[in-house]
Amino acid sequence: MTQILEKIDTSIYSLEKVFVPTMGALHEGHIALIKEAKKFDIPILCSIFVNPTQFNDKNDFKNYPKNLNKDIEILNELGVDFIFTPKENYIYKENQYDNISSGYIGTLFEGKSRPGHFDGVLTVVKRLFELVNPKIAIFGAKDAQQLFLIKEMIEKYLLPISIVECPTVREKSGLALSSRNQLLTSKGKKEAQKIFQNLIFVSNLYSKNKDINLATQQGIERYKKLNLKYDYLEVVDKNTFQYPDESTQELLFLTAVYVDNIRLIDNLNVKI
Ligand code: PAJ
Repeated sequence: MTQILEKIDTSIYSLEKVFVPTMGALHEGHIALIKEAKKFDIPILCSIFVNPTQFNDKNDFKNYPKNLNKDIEILNELGVDFIFTPKENYIYKENQYDNISSGYIGTLFEGKSRPGHFDGVLTVVKRLFELVNPKIAIFGAKDAQQLFLIKEMIEKYLLPISIVECPTVREKSGLALSSRNQLLTSKGKKEAQKIFQNLIFVSNLYSKNKDINLATQQGIERYKKLNLKYDYLEVVDKNTFQYPDESTQELLFLTAVYVDNIRLIDNLNVKI
């Protein structure tokens, strides 16, 4: 039986467990993380908390899809042991959490267009880690910069938590699943499919020419031709999140695009 918790007590804290943090409005991407969690054969705790501090835009926070009853049903069916649905004043109880800075990398790409976003993400993830005390925590590759910064935080604070990365789950069309897709019109959904198609185009071009600047420039040209309102299309070394150099082994093409005024992100991993 799934137990719903608003707070963590010592009996829950001391259980060995695998943790899947989410902001709810669950879809197959989240479900893939839970299925991965099941492989560890220890209790699973999934949190649902729409974290206000990671939204730099009040309207984005207000409009973020919420579907708690459906989420509980899904997690129940999947056999998740604990659903943690904390209140904001429990997570952000005075003097009980640390404000975490995401540093320079946190100001790039997503962080450039959403100032403070990654500070908010790291602050809530660290607080959740401290409350939940997981052995393992599972995150999606879809949010590549978030995952990179969380791994960096784990290293910095020597947190004894293993991070497991799950590949991005996509629709047949290639569109990466996202809670925000629910906010798209059907025309917008068609437009949004072009995001991953463009990443494929860029990575094919790179495979042919081995020229990352040419590939990203051509990708940007293609966004313009397609009339897509892109924010960025960039490439980094997957291991450093910096511009690739001679030691780079894996590239990440990163992109953010607005469709129907909804910000959508995606990325594609390419081995050199
Ligand atoms: P949320 O967007 O709900 O995502 C929760 C987890 O699901 C993240 O690890 C995210 O990378 C993963 N995820 C989302 N879409 C996915 C997809 N299509 N394929 C695979 N995994 C996917 O990310 C957050 O919430 C928040 O920032 C959080 C970490 C919970 C902190 O508030």
